[in-house]
Amino acid sequence: MTSNIASMQAVKSLRSIDVSGKKVLIRVDFNVPVDEHGNITDDRRIRAALPTINHCIDNNACSITLVSHFGDPKTPNDPKFSLRLIVKRLERLLQRKVEFVENFENSKDEIAACSLERVFLLENIRFYPGEKKNDSELSRKLASICDVYVNDAFGASHRKHASTYGVAEFVPVKVAGFLMMREIEAFAKALESPVRPIALVVGGAKISSKITLLKSVLGKVDKLIIGGAMSNTFLQALGYDMKASRFEPDFIETAKEVLAEAKERGVKVYLPVDVVITDNVESPVDVKVVPAQDVMDGYKAVDIGPASVKLFSEAIALSNTIIWNGPMGIFEIDKFSKGTFKIANAIAECYAYTIVGGGDTADAVDRAGEADNFSFISTGGGASLELLEGKILPGFENLDKAERA
Ligand code: 3PG
Repeated sequence: MTSNIASMQAVKSLRSIDVSGKKVLIRVDFNVPVDEHGNITDDRRIRAALPTINHCIDNNACSITLVSHFGDPKTPNDPKFSLRLIVKRLERLLQRKVEFVENFENSKDEIAACSLERVFLLENIRFYPGEKKNDSELSRKLASICDVYVNDAFGASHRKHASTYGVAEFVPVKVAGFLMMREIEAFAKALESPVRPIALVVGGAKISSKITLLKSVLGKVDKLIIGGAMSNTFLQALGYDMKASRFEPDFIETAKEVLAEAKERGVKVYLPVDVVITDNVESPVDVKVVPAQDVMDGYKAVDIGPASVKLFSEAIALSNTIIWNGPMGIFEIDKFSKGTFKIANAIAECYAYTIVGGGDTADAVDRAGEADNFSFISTGGGASLELLEGKILPGFENLDKAERA
């Protein structure tokens, strides 16, 4: 049976088509984090799209139109969600002018006029109510301004929207950009042909949001290392009293099932043996490290402790492929960040193939100063999770298939 990854790898790449003289529409994911003053705090997603954009420029595409969402606006034209704030950074990175298009329907003729080296950036595509509904009218309108559709928005490829999916039905040539291909190759290396042993390090708040992941990887990994608030549910399932810690009472049975299935399949499960606790997460003054079975009344577990770091690090060091998705504690708060950062250090030091799902975990790796020491950091949060869960991402589904050699 073909795996989800193998079927996504079968798409045609931008590399194999000729864009010369063509109007190219590139779906990118410029949904970047910004601070309260509207400054871009991490431009990795913009930089990750450059190889595809530059390839089209270098190969004489007649116009290049970039389409992205930015945040999740509830009303059209809310200036807080305008993509205009990307323009300067993009111009600096591309070293060329980028023309911002507020309403592409009014500018269709200009975009369609073939003039070399023009790069357009459309306003937030989610300002159109049809985008998230995968509306065929909007898809058709987008298709009408291009000859070639390139999807390079890996971070949004789990969304079945007009610009990530529907548009491809109305364009004669539709291919994956270089970022999409790099992402899928990186996950293929970790999951399709891994050097064993393979470890999944998983964290974050809830079992409920990662249950499909946990169940689908049990047949693939040798070790499951669990931290973050989701480990509280597992510890509670083992009979520990996690007191005021965040855990999911409704998922205790699920946790027991995961542990039983892991045992049956010979997957080694590592849970915290000690935890960092506090009685006040917002103003943490009283912070202690205790064995996992000794959480005190009124206290919450908020990070893994030093003995857990040692245990997890040893399991990590003896692995040859490591996939990491989800922080070990509330790492955004300094006092609870050590566990996550030390696991980032431990994975970075490994002589292994190391891959990180995007979102919070990529941010943690960056803040730990280890971004250059991982084999691959995905630009997709939800997308990488769904890929690991075994799903075929809609952003790949409607693209042309590569011709077999
Ligand atoms: C992301 O930030 O994960 C992607 O850009 C997708 O954004 P969304 O969750 O708003 O669809």
